[in-house]
Amino acid sequence: APTAEVLVASNRGPVSYEVREDGSLHAKRGGGGLVSGLSAIGPDAGALWVCSALSDGDREAVLRGVGEEGVRMLAIPADVHADAYNGIANSVLWFVHHLLYQTPLEPAFDAEFRRQWASYEAYNRAFAEALAQEAADGAAVLVQDYHLCLVPGMLRELRPDLRISHFSHTPWAPVDYFALLPGDVREQLLRGMLGADRLGFLTRRWADAFSACCTEFVGGPGRTRIGVHGLGADADFLRERSHRPDVDERMAALRAEIGEGRRTIVRVDRTELSKNIVRGLLAYRQLLDDHPEWRERVVHVAFAYPSRQDLAVYRDYMTEVQRLSEEINDAYGTPGWTPVLLNLKDDFARSLAAYRLADVALVNPIRDGMNLVAKEVPVVSDEGCALVLSREAGAYWELREDAITVNPYDVLETADALHEGLTMKPGERAERTKRLSAAATALPPAQWFLEQLNALREIQPS
Ligand code: G6P
Repeated sequence: APTAEVLVASNRGPVSYEVREDGSLHAKRGGGGLVSGLSAIGPDAGALWVCSALSDGDREAVLRGVGEEGVRMLAIPADVHADAYNGIANSVLWFVHHLLYQTPLEPAFDAEFRRQWASYEAYNRAFAEALAQEAADGAAVLVQDYHLCLVPGMLRELRPDLRISHFSHTPWAPVDYFALLPGDVREQLLRGMLGADRLGFLTRRWADAFSACCTEFVGGPGRTRIGVHGLGADADFLRERSHRPDVDERMAALRAEIGEGRRTIVRVDRTELSKNIVRGLLAYRQLLDDHPEWRERVVHVAFAYPSRQDLAVYRDYMTEVQRLSEEINDAYGTPGWTPVLLNLKDDFARSLAAYRLADVALVNPIRDGMNLVAKEVPVVSDEGCALVLSREAGAYWELREDAITVNPYDVLETADALHEGLTMKPGERAERTKRLSAAATALPPAQWFLEQLNALREIQPS
């Protein structure tokens, strides 16, 4: 009989495998907001994490029957996964919730879209079936994110005894934007999610947008409860991790690259369309124009880690970030000063080093479910850091009082905010950082998870 009492389902799991040259498999722990939030399930006995096999190594691990205890990877056929993940999840749903379409050209819901949508259904069904197979009687199942919107409804049909929740780590689209989707797709997504007993969102704003879509398109959210759980930073982990020797080494190296006595403006993102890295660079250039006194005296350290490189728009965006950084360096740089230090290689220790020494952190997404960088920097900062924060990030609602807030589209306002951050008095900066850090750690990942699990367990199975 199936034994799992608590199950988590997400596309990206906590571990991934690499095939080494000698043919052996090497396991790597994954990162990212969702994964760090969910790692809290570790101590919960009997918990099972169901996720996709994403890499060739993952598929090989499934084939060889290799795996970690408490993790089940689903080897969904690669073409089905690609259509569901790249085609629907990251090119349609991500775009809708982050308002990324350039509407005169896109989207066009055509025959290819329909083929991909069928894959999205098949991929969701594979998850629902695996969960139905593994879940003990009356178990709690916590489904994660926009990849798996149809799972709650499908699972409810297979296993009416289960308690099911779904959590969105993204924003939710406003009614007029969600309306871009074909009517049947809209309905399937909403009804799929409403198959859950409980739905969770990162802020009230996204929860309200979801409810409004339900009212508009399916006659309301019905019996499904909706809760808000603002995932916070993991202070204990971050403080410990950011003081290990590898971070100290990277701080010394970064300081040398930045140069003696210079201020730093730091950003750390996946190279993600919604993160608004290009307008961040434009704002920095504007700062150098408006305030020439900063030339030679400030460096923009920008971490832009590769992400979703199967998609051409992401690759093009990456190219534009590189091009613009070089353009700024060519136009303003001097023999002793490189205005932009662009880092493309994923290096967590180096980002932590940058967090520690940053004078200003730039977090200017077009739209973001929460944004954990905004919450991590104040926790890790050595001497206080001014936070320039987009009003369109979920974190805005928790951090706005002590951040310098900006309209992410307004390059001039962002440039002014950078100047304000650079000129903030050290005492005020330290005070604000302390308050930001307290707000940022109000709901640490383990508590965030338990809060939802407990709420789900209180629900009487139907
Ligand atoms: C966002 C999503 C997560 C996703 C992460 C990284 O935070 O909410 O579900 O895992 O981005 O994206 P990726 O496509 O690499 O998993």
